[in-house]
Amino acid sequence: MAAQEDFSNHEFPMTDGDFKKIREIAYARTGISLTDHKKNMIYGRLARRLRRLNLKSFREYCDLLVQEDTEENIEFVNSITTNLTSFFRENHHFEHLKNTVLPGLMRKNLGSRRIRIWSAGCSTGEEAYSIAMVVKSFASLSNWDVKVLATDLDSNVVAKAKEAIYAAERAENIPDKYKVCFSIDKSRKKVKIKDNVRKLITFKQLNLLHEWPMKGPFDIIFCRNVVIYFDANTQRKLFDRYADIMTEQSTLFIGHSESLHNITSRFGSIGRTIYERRH
Ligand SMILES: C[S@@+](CC[C@H](N)C(=O)[O-])C[C@H]1O[C@@H](n2cnc3c(N)ncnc32)[C@H](O)[C@@H]1O
Repeated sequence: MAAQEDFSNHEFPMTDGDFKKIREIAYARTGISLTDHKKNMIYGRLARRLRRLNLKSFREYCDLLVQEDTEENIEFVNSITTNLTSFFRENHHFEHLKNTVLPGLMRKNLGSRRIRIWSAGCSTGEEAYSIAMVVKSFASLSNWDVKVLATDLDSNVVAKAKEAIYAAERAENIPDKYKVCFSIDKSRKKVKIKDNVRKLITFKQLNLLHEWPMKGPFDIIFCRNVVIYFDANTQRKLFDRYADIMTEQSTLFIGHSESLHNITSRFGSIGRTIYERRH
């Protein structure tokens, strides 16, 4: 086993007790489970906060965090989240959305002409925009009531998502057929998602562990690469809540390294990391 790093000689001393406290606060407020091997990462991310706040040690930082109503709690939560994402990440999900899920819903929901999609843990918005681009590619959905809700715990990423502006190289993952959905600025360094695509989406800050203001029902939920940071108990509660807010035979997409096996039986697998809500 690798020797545990000693954080007592670092710029900011961090004792095992400090890390334990940080771990408890993170778990209680976000569901994120910080194991010992995340210590280095957490030290690096939070050291920036200590510098900014002119604090001398993690003990002082923990004292600040236990006061729940401080501004720092938002910064803390924003610092511990991992926001890695990209357009059309795990593209087989978007292929399935286009070839199977949306055509199926166009038959199933013909009466209401309404489709509700949720990107839960949307990070900087690439997932939600990828969904909206696929929806937009169906001319026959233009007179349907289709809405995408996109939420994340981290207020910084939600603000970034709302801007709808990305570095041009990030747009390289967008398949050619969807290139009509964004414009490129004169310098060719930035792309902007077009308004007709943006309008399908509502971005909101939301902690998945808290009460949800929306009632649903949702036809499709994307919750990808989010529960990987949660323990089994938190995952179980979350997936059961998803099942409660979804229509029958609705579709749940999860991340490539996630699974519902031994977590919940309310969804049945219908493909690689694709599930259907059971009757
Ligand atoms: C790795 S990103 C995944 C982004 C996108 N779904 C994807 O697969 O590309 C995980 C996101 O989950 C969010 N997250 C973590 N815990 C959360 C919670 N309790 N409530 C809401 N979002 C949370 C993080 O802020 C982060 O942006």
